[in-house]
Amino acid sequence: MKKLIIAIDGPAGAGKSTVAQILAHRLRYNYIDTGAMYRAITWKVMKTNVNNDIIAIENIAKNIKIQLDYVDGKTNVFVDGFNVTEEIRNPAISRLVSEIAQIRAIRDAMLQLQRHMATAGGVVMDGRDIGTHVLPNADVKVFLTASIKERADRRWRELTEKGFIVNREELEKEIADRDKADSEREFAPLIQASDAILIDTTTLSIEEAVTAILKNCEERSSLV
Ligand code: CDP
Repeated sequence: MKKLIIAIDGPAGAGKSTVAQILAHRLRYNYIDTGAMYRAITWKVMKTNVNNDIIAIENIAKNIKIQLDYVDGKTNVFVDGFNVTEEIRNPAISRLVSEIAQIRAIRDAMLQLQRHMATAGGVVMDGRDIGTHVLPNADVKVFLTASIKERADRRWRELTEKGFIVNREELEKEIADRDKADSEREFAPLIQASDAILIDTTTLSIEEAVTAILKNCEERSSLV
């Protein structure tokens, strides 16, 4: 079977990374978590205290070394050689990341890196603008979504299990604000590509979502 390029987009908590990792594992593909890349750059912006200094932020975008190592179903994220895998999931990063992700110089730098990472094919890439902007020629495009309530419940469980104390209502508001910022930004907003299949996971299990995408992959690979 031809090695496909699979693009999965959607809002926070829709199940993108879980579904994408299972797909990558079953197909023996690489998994690229582009949200982790924006989180990594946000981590560096916070660490270096550049605040709103746009020139300093553009310099970070130019010089940052982000590495994603996807091994045994887990992505380790490195910034300039430091392992930031756990730290980038911190709620403080989640609150800032959408603002940082709107900066054009940052998006341009990530775009180049992400396209380069996909050149060999056999890849599942998830994010917000993959099917529309980063990989418009992807073989399979999926827009994964779920109700805001369900997405906030999932994220609350995830964070609580990791030991973070989070207010469920505040979290829902933060996710809604992030959805709005991601969907309304000027450049490469979160939007369903016209040729993407829509999967709503509000009442769908992970396995059902994976099965639907795999079926689409089989149909596509018989065509290509
Ligand atoms: O894990 P979660 O769904 O909360 O978000 P994420 O995938 O880690 O992405 C974090 C943020 O990065 C998003 O809210 C977007 O602001 C930004 N992002 C983006 O702008 N473009 C992408 N391709 C991926 C993420």
